[in-house]
Amino acid sequence: MPTATKKHSESKRRQKKRGDRPKKPKMADTADRHDLYQRSVQCVEDEVAFIDERFREIRGREARSVREDFCGTAAMACAWAAHAPNATAVGVDIDPEVLAWGRAHNLAALPEDARGRVTLIEGDVLTVQTEPVDAIAAMNFSYWLFMDRPTLLAYFRSLRAALKPDGLLFLDAYGGYEAHQVIEEERDCEGFTYIWDQADFDPITHRMQCYIHFHFPDKSKMERAFSYVWRLWSLPELKELLLEAGFTEVQFWWEGADEDGDGNGVFERVERGDADAGWICYLIAAV
Ligand SMILES: C[S@@+](CC[C@H](N)C(=O)[O-])C[C@H]1O[C@@H](n2cnc3c(N)ncnc32)[C@H](O)[C@@H]1O
Repeated sequence: MPTATKKHSESKRRQKKRGDRPKKPKMADTADRHDLYQRSVQCVEDEVAFIDERFREIRGREARSVREDFCGTAAMACAWAAHAPNATAVGVDIDPEVLAWGRAHNLAALPEDARGRVTLIEGDVLTVQTEPVDAIAAMNFSYWLFMDRPTLLAYFRSLRAALKPDGLLFLDAYGGYEAHQVIEEERDCEGFTYIWDQADFDPITHRMQCYIHFHFPDKSKMERAFSYVWRLWSLPELKELLLEAGFTEVQFWWEGADEDGDGNGVFERVERGDADAGWICYLIAAV
């Protein structure tokens, strides 16, 4: 058999073999956006510790019952229920898909006794009715989805009414001049890159369009895994609204910085903030 013909048939055979082989799926196609979100955005153990410690300091007793608003996968509600044998948690979210994910992954992973102390409600935080709780938490700026003053005031009033007489409300907020910019920030996480994309900001209304993208080492991308349209609220606006809603005191807890100037996850109570390019703080509002 002439060599050329042999080569030809050999390469055809190899091609066929390659064609038959199933393509390796891209990392972006097999990754789970809720899992990536929890691993890159949330640190629920820190939130639980913060609520637990601050409540004890401010109220001189233990917080038992916590309501997590905009709970998403209910990671925080589940962590709260798991942190102490008498801890109970209620999670509220409007989206049945994310709640189902939370039930299947976070709730199902809890020991049976803790699982029994978590209630998940599919509902609107503006109208949901729950038993009075020690603390309510609305984290990762979710309440910024309420973009006008009357709606945010109504929400804060409903929270005050949903708390026990010595209850505390825990919120977070961010700001600094970078919050007013159209920018992208990348952060390396284990096995992927998290990208926070402030795609649009209107200085007149403070309306922002933000996205979360995830990129993978095989160059595949999960673009716009999450999309948020919200308002960049300022701390004085939030304090005024909380007091108007009937809260008696608003505390600000500012995040410290490491030697590179990045947030270190340690929050101190402050009377005034730093004019950082980008800052994060917790607000605690007392009934
Ligand atoms: C940014 S995620 C927050 C997830 C999680 N709590 C965290 O700390 O990262 C916002 C969540 O708010 C929910 N949501 C939006 N509007 C809502 C409303 N009016 N009532 C209840 N949940 C709402 C969405 O379904 C979404 O799961």
